[in-house]
Amino acid sequence: MREELLDPDPLEGEVVDDNGLRPRSLADFVGQARLKEHLGIILEAARRRGQAVDHLLFAGPPGLGKTTLAAIVANEMGVRHVPTSGPAIERAGDLAAILTQLEEGDVLFVDEIHRLPRAVEEVLYPAMEDFQLDIVIGKGPAARSIRLDLPPFTLVGATTRTGAITGPLRDRFGLVERLDFYTSLELEAIVVRAASILDVVLDDSGATEIARRARGTPRIANRLLRRVRDYAEVRGDGTIDQSTAALGLATFGVDERGLDKVDRSILSAICERFGGGPVGLSTLAISVGEQTETVEDVYEPFLIQQGLLMRTPKGRVCTAGAWEHLGLVAPRTAETDGPSALFE
Ligand SMILES: Nc1ncnc2c1ncn2[C@@H]1O[C@H](COP(=O)(O)OP(=O)(O)OP(=O)(O)O)[C@@H](O)[C@H]1O
Ligand SMILES: [Mg+2]
Repeated sequence: MREELLDPDPLEGEVVDDNGLRPRSLADFVGQARLKEHLGIILEAARRRGQAVDHLLFAGPPGLGKTTLAAIVANEMGVRHVPTSGPAIERAGDLAAILTQLEEGDVLFVDEIHRLPRAVEEVLYPAMEDFQLDIVIGKGPAARSIRLDLPPFTLVGATTRTGAITGPLRDRFGLVERLDFYTSLELEAIVVRAASILDVVLDDSGATEIARRARGTPRIANRLLRRVRDYAEVRGDGTIDQSTAALGLATFGVDERGLDKVDRSILSAICERFGGGPVGLSTLAISVGEQTETVEDVYEPFLIQQGLLMRTPKGRVCTAGAWEHLGLVAPRTAETDGPSALFE
């Protein structure tokens, strides 16, 4: 833990794992135009004043770039990036150990910040607001509390579920940004950039095909590029055009719309086993063999964004588009006709 914290560039290892695909500067970060504009202003202002950047919270589905942005903030500000995560900080003492090692301006990145234990969160409040740490030493009547001053630092939090962040914690961030799914054009730029880093020969039509099926997510775009590269090397001449990409993706179970096996099994469970819904989240999760959190945070956001699935007070419901995508005929019900049908 100690060594990891003191490593001046803990991301270095990750960059190697990622084959250097992670953008290191705001200029290299594709998409999220509004977020980038806000962040650019905040960083520039902090730089001019010579102050630590205000605390930042990034929210959104997995793989959209939250961790990458935290590292970019540290890199742009020329400070250390100290990564940890909510579940890793079990006790207030763990947090105190991390905070007391921070240097002025450091970026403390807390991934999955919604999973911080409540007792730890309470220690974080004064640290964020006044850069002060209150620690209790000893137990019972002999216990006393001491207050330590911390250097001004920047807390960058990431979460896949904003709803699970408590109000007091959320209010202590100077900027709360939600990351959106990327457009096909943005993903195309990401695929082209990754291909050049990985030395993959890819034409425009191949990039378009991979981008179109990447579930709006850069991490998936990069993963699909790697799988298509494998396919092209083994079954073709190593170069990627539209048809190689389409064949490769089909081989790996990614369909026309970019849905994978689990996406399709969620939709087909709702349609075929539960008559199109509504079905409760936990029943649905069990029937596809996934955790409820995974279904809710990883799979549903994209299916909802694509208009294939709806969350209703009674449970999950498939839309007409989902039935059509699965090649099934939807029974005519109020749910599949949409809410307006109820009042006709
Ligand atoms: N805007 C972007 N431009 C280029 N590449 C990106 C961008 N955003 C993300 N990536 C790539 O996608 C990968 C996933 O990004 P990242 O790890 O930052 O996602 P995340 O939001 O932290 O996901 P999780 O919630 O699962 O932790 C990175 O390795 C990076 O290569
Ligand atoms: Mg992350």
